[in-house]
Amino acid sequence: MRTAPTVGIAGLGYMGLATGLGFAHRGVRVVGYEVRADVRRELARGRTKIHEPGLAELLRGGLNSGRFQLVDSWAALLRETDIIFLCLPTPRRPDGHIDLRPMLRGVRELGEALRTPSPPRLIVVKSTVVPGTTEEVIRPALERASGRRAPSLTVAANPEFLAEGSMVTDVMQPERVVLGVSNAADERKLRAIYRAFPAPVITLSPTGAELVKYAANAFLALKVTFVNEIARLAEAVGSDIDPVAEAVGLDSRIGQKFLSAGPGFGGSCFEKDVRALVARSHDLGLRPRTLEALVPSNEDQTRHAFEIVQGALGTLRGRRVAILGLAFKAGTDDVRESRALPLVRYARSAGATVRVHDPVALENFRRAWTAYADRGTRGVRFCTTVKEALQGADVAVLQAAWPDYLDFPPMWTRGMRRPWVVDLRRALPPRVRDRPDLHWVGLGTASAAPSTGPRAPPPARPSGKRRGGRR
Ligand code: UGA
Repeated sequence: MRTAPTVGIAGLGYMGLATGLGFAHRGVRVVGYEVRADVRRELARGRTKIHEPGLAELLRGGLNSGRFQLVDSWAALLRETDIIFLCLPTPRRPDGHIDLRPMLRGVRELGEALRTPSPPRLIVVKSTVVPGTTEEVIRPALERASGRRAPSLTVAANPEFLAEGSMVTDVMQPERVVLGVSNAADERKLRAIYRAFPAPVITLSPTGAELVKYAANAFLALKVTFVNEIARLAEAVGSDIDPVAEAVGLDSRIGQKFLSAGPGFGGSCFEKDVRALVARSHDLGLRPRTLEALVPSNEDQTRHAFEIVQGALGTLRGRRVAILGLAFKAGTDDVRESRALPLVRYARSAGATVRVHDPVALENFRRAWTAYADRGTRGVRFCTTVKEALQGADVAVLQAAWPDYLDFPPMWTRGMRRPWVVDLRRALPPRVRDRPDLHWVGLGTASAAPSTGPRAPPPARPSGKRRGGRR
């Protein structure tokens, strides 16, 4: 009897690692290759720097069962495996297109290793690449580098839909598996691997599969952007976005998810993918006006979130702003495109000093801020405790809704110069919002409207006027 295929994973970042470990957990033998030797060594010891709930446990389980192994070269990966999934990064270029250089470097190296005679291979592109890339760029590059063609070498696409913070659940219980294949044999092989996953499998062409991924992310980005625009409207008319979004989302054609207003979407995917889809559409002579509007509207929302903070104090000159939550959302240590970056920049430009805190993303943020700001870390203090971040602050801004913040104990407000709390996610529960020792302002609620005055100032803490501060 033919034994089950062994899967190779090339690239063990967030997505490659979670994908490989998900396969291993479902009983597939997996061999991983990562070009960064330090990452390989760490993984081999059962450790990962990636903060992702359940991932470290899954790693140790995979290593202990022997179903997840690591190799240190493309040649070894090829020797050990039947099907290779490319999980290589596809960052964005300044013009919106994706940067295929890291992917093509990997493809060239893999192609050279494929020159050694070996049984037929299926290479699967799991990375997010714009529609047409697998067929028009990756397959030809692999064929050139390896000197092989179908049936000795075939290429498929199989996009991932993992969200950071819930990668392990998403990988174990996918809502769908999308296969982009160009022949029935490849479809059979991929279906065999996914047999252990309880999910519907949709088969299309590689280009169609790539389009599914972009359409899905663009639609999610659209939902977030849409609700953010409605939230601005809710503030202006004196309403509250959450019950509005809930009532709207109860229509099953709309759905409740991704209707939570905030400071704008962040993360490594939405902006990059929307920009790439727009750039690809332009290349094809199309004008996708809805897609084109998403990133500008998202930027407006971040600016708007900042203006809520500024509106609370009247001026930020000489004030101290504390930003709590630096990851692009709670549950991850990833700060890529985090809204905390522009928020800190706006606050600094308005003359405030800033203290920042995050339970897990502080170091990543420090590095990202240094690269983003390109004028050093002057005026920004990176705090390892919330207490330090809030000490002497005129306003606390909740950017990511980490559970650690949600009690907001009175001892935190005691250390603040003014007890304004601007909650960009409306995450603080009503019992905290209503406490007399703080002024809660929620994005998407009437409290954030520019014309709204403050509630009565807390005792022994003269807070000044809603607009225009003291000291
Ligand atoms: C996203 C998609 O959700 C995944 O399905 C996809 O696989 C992934 O991109 C990818 O392409 O790799 P991710 O970026 O990890 O996942 O995070 P999301 O949970 O989608 O959140 C993105 C941003 O939208 C965050 O800044 C989040 O705070 C924001 N958001 C999300 C809102 O402001 N409101 C919401 O209701 C939902």
